This record gives sequence, C-alpha cells and structure tokens, in this order.
Amino acid sequence: MNAQHWISHFEANTRLNHELQLPDSACDLPEHVRSALARSIAIFQLGESGGGTRLRRYTRSIASLENLKGYQRAVDLFVAEEQSHAALLSRTVTHLHGTLLQKQWTNSIFRWMRDLVNLEFNIQVLLTAELIAEVYFGLLSLRCSDPVVQTVAKKLLRDEMGHLSFQRDFLFERLKTLTPAVQRLWRWQFQAIHLVTACVVSWDHRACLLSLNITPSDFRARAVRCWQSFQSRLERRLREEESQARHEADSTPGYSRSSRATMQSPVS
Ligand SMILES: [Fe+2]
Ligand SMILES: [Fe+2]
Repeated sequence: MNAQHWISHFEANTRLNHELQLPDSACDLPEHVRSALARSIAIFQLGESGGGTRLRRYTRSIASLENLKGYQRAVDLFVAEEQSHAALLSRTVTHLHGTLLQKQWTNSIFRWMRDLVNLEFNIQVLLTAELIAEVYFGLLSLRCSDPVVQTVAKKLLRDEMGHLSFQRDFLFERLKTLTPAVQRLWRWQFQAIHLVTACVVSWDHRACLLSLNITPSDFRARAVRCWQSFQSRLERRLREEESQARHEADSTPGYSRSSRATMQSPVS
C-alpha cells in the first residue's frame, strides 16, 4: 500500500476544508425542505464527528506489517479529515437553523458495529457509511438549490470518493491474503450489511429525500450501484494480483501452487 501517497493527499486536502469559504447567503429554502434537510445533515454531522479512538487502537496492532508501513499516520490524517467534515457540516446545520445532535439511534448502532470484530470489519463498516455518504452528498449537490449546502456537499462528495479509494487500497492488502472462497464469503456479508444499511438510511432520511424529490427506493438503487462499482474495482485488483502470482509461480522453477497456499496468512 502506498501510504505516503495518502499522507500527502490528506495533508493537502484537509487544509482546503479548513479554508473553505461558504457563500454568504441566508437560507431561503421552503420550510419543509429546510427542516428536513437540517435534521438529516445533523445526523451525518454526528457520524463524522468521532475521534477515531478505536480505529487508531486497531491500526497500532498492524503497524509493524511491511506492506502497511505508514498506514497508521495515514489513518490519523484520515480521521482529521473526517473531523473537518464534521466542522463543515456543523456550519451547514447552523446555516439551516437546525440543531446539532449529541446522540441518534442509527449513529449509535453504527458505532457499536464498528467495534464488533477486528480492524478489517471496523474499516468495512466505515466504508459502508462512506458508500452511503457518496450517494447522499452526490444527491444533495445535484438536487438542493441552497448554495451553502451545494458547496459543502460537492466538497464532501469529492473527499468521500478519495476515502473510498483509501479504504479499497487497505482492503486489497488484507483480502489478497485470503483464499478465493473466503473472499467470496467476505463479499457476501459486506453486500448484506451494505444493503441493510441503505434500507435503514433511506427510511430514516426519507423526509429529506422526499423534500428533494428522491424516493427512498431510488436512493437504495443508487446505493446498490455504488456498492457494485466499488466491489468490482476491488475484485479486479484481486484477480490481477492472483494472476500475477500464478504467472510468477509458473516461471519459478521448483515452486508449486500448494507451496504458495501455505504462505497465505488469514486476516487477523
Ligand atoms: Fe466524511
Ligand atoms: Fe469518509
């Protein structure tokens, strides 16, 4: 994993969020749109505002792995970027005359789930939220006429797309050590958790979605397409890695496929 690339990326990009100028205009959205939007964005704001304590603790456990050198530093900067998103969303909620949240049930479930298994699962749950965020901020930037919401949504959409690449790089490093059968099992549970999350979010945010003329089922369909796009890119890389390893094995005298299998280590 090229952690240095991500360190440079986060260092430059997060600064832009701190310096982002928002349009100096009052909110003139219709009342039902404003209130639904304010509540919905406040939920995303709460989700972005974590300190990353558990994620950082997990990353310490794999800091010594050669292929993940620098990952710990990249994760620190990634968490800082998420906190800059929380700050931008907080300004957006204030602009919409909304109220920031301290607790919300979907956010509590999300935080509980992240700590259930291990680092890979923590990243997967985070990634699930980022795939949903990609759809959400993409729709806000297209469908909401408020210039402040549009500015923030466009920036967060770009950033979350970067985060998806960052998580894909990490998962690739971990999943390539698994057998194809275990990779398929992983894919199945990831797909199932993502689908359930998309259903819950589309239901919980239905007032906001409907105020922007988006039905919950349209939101879910878009979320499924984003998941498919992410997963097919990840699988393409895994297939390329597998065929390269096969090619190297075939051209190495005295090397057999079974000897490679014994070198594989399970994801911890
Ligand atoms: Fe974010
Ligand atoms: Fe993110």
